[in-house]
Amino acid sequence: MSRKALIAANWKMYKTPAEAKAFVDAFLPLVAWHTRDEIALFPSPVLLPTVVEGCKGSNVAVGAQNIHFAEEGAFTGETSIVQLKAVGGTHTLIGHSERRQYFAETDEIVNKKLHTALKHGVVPVVCIGEVLEDREAGKTASVLKTQVTGAFAGIVPEAAKPIVIAYEPVWAIGTGKTATPEIAADAHRIIRAEVATLLGADVAAAMRILYGGSVKPDNATALIGLEEIDGALVGGASLKPDSFTAIVKY
Ligand code: PGA
Repeated sequence: MSRKALIAANWKMYKTPAEAKAFVDAFLPLVAWHTRDEIALFPSPVLLPTVVEGCKGSNVAVGAQNIHFAEEGAFTGETSIVQLKAVGGTHTLIGHSERRQYFAETDEIVNKKLHTALKHGVVPVVCIGEVLEDREAGKTASVLKTQVTGAFAGIVPEAAKPIVIAYEPVWAIGTGKTATPEIAADAHRIIRAEVATLLGADVAAAMRILYGGSVKPDNATALIGLEEIDGALVGGASLKPDSFTAIVKY
């Protein structure tokens, strides 16, 4: 089955509105006729209106890096899915490893957020991945299975179609250490098999699984070019229009 790749930029806590606008103005013409892959930008919440406005009518989607699972309420500092949609965001990351590591997000929270995103028709990009100690202890497969099972609790096959998974080995994020294509493909096979167990072979075959972790222009082809890998979630190398364009056009 052929899956259309998604190439996504995770800007993390970088850029001012002026810098975000400058990026969009430079980037859109560079990818204007690119239809092979889907493209999405994930800026900080305060940048969303600027980036959505700049990308209007283009082939580039815009999403949040995080949402709360509640639709509204007394949750100081959080962003809701209703707010995201109201400013024109169509996608959201869920459970990025930095959320898990620094903001105590658990598989249970990830699961609640996934239900919220699906309920509101926002494309969820669910991030999973093992830390170095897990890998060194030979626990990668069991960690990935636990994360997928936890994230997907209560999700039925009919509702799962929009879900995208991003496999991001935590030891490869922002470290310059990329998983080899073999390591990444192996992890992607484990994840897809787990999705098949939970939701059936058809859902698993159609689900996009992205790779993330130090994706750069010079390693993008070797990774995204693999049958098992359906795109990339890019941090550092997505901050400049030129390097992100080179990855989009791997
Ligand atoms: P990186 O970040 O490309 O800078 O490693 C990836 C991510 O955190 O999504």
